[in-house]
Amino acid sequence: MTTDLLTEFTEVVTFDRYEQIREALLNPELSRSFDKRSYHDGNIRDGVVSISHGSVHRARRRVENTQFRPDVLRLYERDLFPRVMDQLLDVLIDREEADLYGLGEVLSVVLASRRAGIEFDPGDVDQLRQLVHFVDVFSQGSAILDAKDPDAVRDLVRATYVEFERDYLRPAWNRRAELIARVQRGELAEDALPHDILTVLLLHRGDANLELADDGRVVREVATYLQGGTHTSGQTLVNAFDLIFAQDDAAAIVERLASDLLYAQRAVHETLRLRPTTPKIKRRAEHDTSVAGRAIRADAQVVLDAATANRDERLFGAEPDRFDPDRAVADGVPRWGLSFGAGPHQCPGRSVAGGFPVPDSFSVDDQHVHGLVALMLQAMARRGIGPDPDRVPERDTRTERFTRWRHYPVRFARTAATAAS
Ligand code: HEM
Repeated sequence: MTTDLLTEFTEVVTFDRYEQIREALLNPELSRSFDKRSYHDGNIRDGVVSISHGSVHRARRRVENTQFRPDVLRLYERDLFPRVMDQLLDVLIDREEADLYGLGEVLSVVLASRRAGIEFDPGDVDQLRQLVHFVDVFSQGSAILDAKDPDAVRDLVRATYVEFERDYLRPAWNRRAELIARVQRGELAEDALPHDILTVLLLHRGDANLELADDGRVVREVATYLQGGTHTSGQTLVNAFDLIFAQDDAAAIVERLASDLLYAQRAVHETLRLRPTTPKIKRRAEHDTSVAGRAIRADAQVVLDAATANRDERLFGAEPDRFDPDRAVADGVPRWGLSFGAGPHQCPGRSVAGGFPVPDSFSVDDQHVHGLVALMLQAMARRGIGPDPDRVPERDTRTERFTRWRHYPVRFARTAATAAS
């Protein structure tokens, strides 16, 4: 018998080998649907792509994946993001001391908002901080399986959806609805529409396979993309420098980041491998099934220990615990291991954040996308980032995920003020 909110499992089965985890992630009997209740009955993530399964999930991803095409990625990476990032960093890094966590979140939210379809004034830092706050709340919602106080998280997320919809989503929605109506009347070409998740959802909402008739589901889906694109990138930026500062040759690494974007990209991949934002990926067995020859009962929880699999020396070399962006990895294995997942739920934003895979030769052509986190790393390195000897970083202990930070004090050798003087 299946349960709508699964909190007690028939068994818990853990896999920690790369091949086993990939097999599990491709198994159609394993879902992310631990909570099948309606929104009204308490499921704050009702209907979002991350917990959908089967044909609804496939239909949703087909429509949403169109927003991650290589030409759009190049446009963001070469044109939109560097400009916005430099302007913002000039405002945000106004003195030597800064909080790297806060910087990463603000930079990441700019892009995630655009891609989600949320409108904001990039010069208005308070507005960006409010969006970051929304992301923080939605992230707690998305990690609800690991939350220490799930009921408190549910209440907070519900209240935040209301604010998010009122202040940001509805205005953006109304503008897009108007544009879509003009396209439908033949007054405007379809390619004049914005390229974002909200627009494609509104365009395709009539397709019953998407199960988006309820307005609340559109709100939650856009919030999912806003959140999915922000916290992960911001946390990866912080983890990268946390790993780098612990190296004996940290200053040389920072210099290399400043001049070599492909190295910065490999540093991001190496960070993701060692510090996955989701160290343990979880699945529910919809029916009796098996993985790697191990029988699994319906309503079991399957725990996929990506953090351990990412340190497998057969795949990542003799010293898998070491931070080494120049390491060679086994054929066909991504440098980031399983940190973007695999199978149907594999992260749609992986190329946005992490860029295209880096070939073994470390040689790429001008079509290559390095990913936005590499651009952030390089921008920080060029401003002379270093640890703050007087202040201690603080981890986020609200979930059991060990790779999350709350504050990360750093110092910059070059600020907008020193550059001007
Ligand atoms: C360093 C950055 C990122 C990391 C480490 C990351 C990691 C992941 C992982 C591990 C999953 C799969 C989870 C599972 O199978 O249980 C996932 C899914 C997802 N990610 Fe990312 N992500 C990143 C960036 C992004 C960006 C930039 C976006 C959006 C622009 C995004 C949107 C999503 C969405 C919507 C899903 C759910 C997809 C589905 O369930 O079909 N992520 N991400």
